[in-house]
Amino acid sequence: MTNAAPVYIDSHCHLSLPELASDIDAVLARMRAQGVLAAVNVCTTLEEFPRVLALAEREPDIYASAGVHPDSRDCQEPDVAALLTLATHPRVVAIGETGLDYFRLQEPLEWQRERFRVHIRAACTSGLPLIIHTRAAAADTLRIMREENAAQAGGVMHCFTETLEVARAALDLGFYISISGIVTFKNAQEVQQVAKFIPRDRLLIETDAPYLAPVPMRGRTNEPAFVPHVAGRIAELTGRSQDDIGDRCSINTCNLFNRISL
Ligand code: NI
Repeated sequence: MTNAAPVYIDSHCHLSLPELASDIDAVLARMRAQGVLAAVNVCTTLEEFPRVLALAEREPDIYASAGVHPDSRDCQEPDVAALLTLATHPRVVAIGETGLDYFRLQEPLEWQRERFRVHIRAACTSGLPLIIHTRAAAADTLRIMREENAAQAGGVMHCFTETLEVARAALDLGFYISISGIVTFKNAQEVQQVAKFIPRDRLLIETDAPYLAPVPMRGRTNEPAFVPHVAGRIAELTGRSQDDIGDRCSINTCNLFNRISL
């Protein structure tokens, strides 16, 4: 790839949230100017899905997911049939984001675990990979992944902030691990250790925009144009070049979300 311009894919962002949707044409222009060839616009509620899909239908480099985030409350509850219907659309590349979050919500969360199981079943049936969010719930997340045979669908542990041991368990299930801008934060030594440990063919990068802007953009609204900063920090940590991280993670993203075509 000598002399080729660096390329990136933002494997996880939320372009349909108001912070980015209100200025979407400029956000996409800045993304393209940075060599970010594609982005997965991740759905967090069924109510949001029509907007997520509409953007993916309008923009050739934007793809959609279908799912309901574990922190989404007071919204329509998905069942397997509903998710399977959404999954048939060729611009939908994944089921999620789904998973467990015991950090933000502390009430009894059986509904959250049931919602997670529904997503895994839909992924296994549809053949689409899972986008999994886990926070303060790693043991239950891995347990349910095993019980529901999530390895059959495969997928990614997104915005990874867990231990090396959890990373190893997810890799053993055949999952990819996606590193966000958190890796650029000074106090994120554990994420930096994980970033060094992930095999090069299982690593993805993401912004999780509009949240978690990487250094040196902290304090700003995050956007896909900032994903090269994530690649840059991983390059420093691994002793590889930023271009190599960008190339390799782009290939990995296309291997995982195989409805993406560049
Ligand atoms: Ni997200």
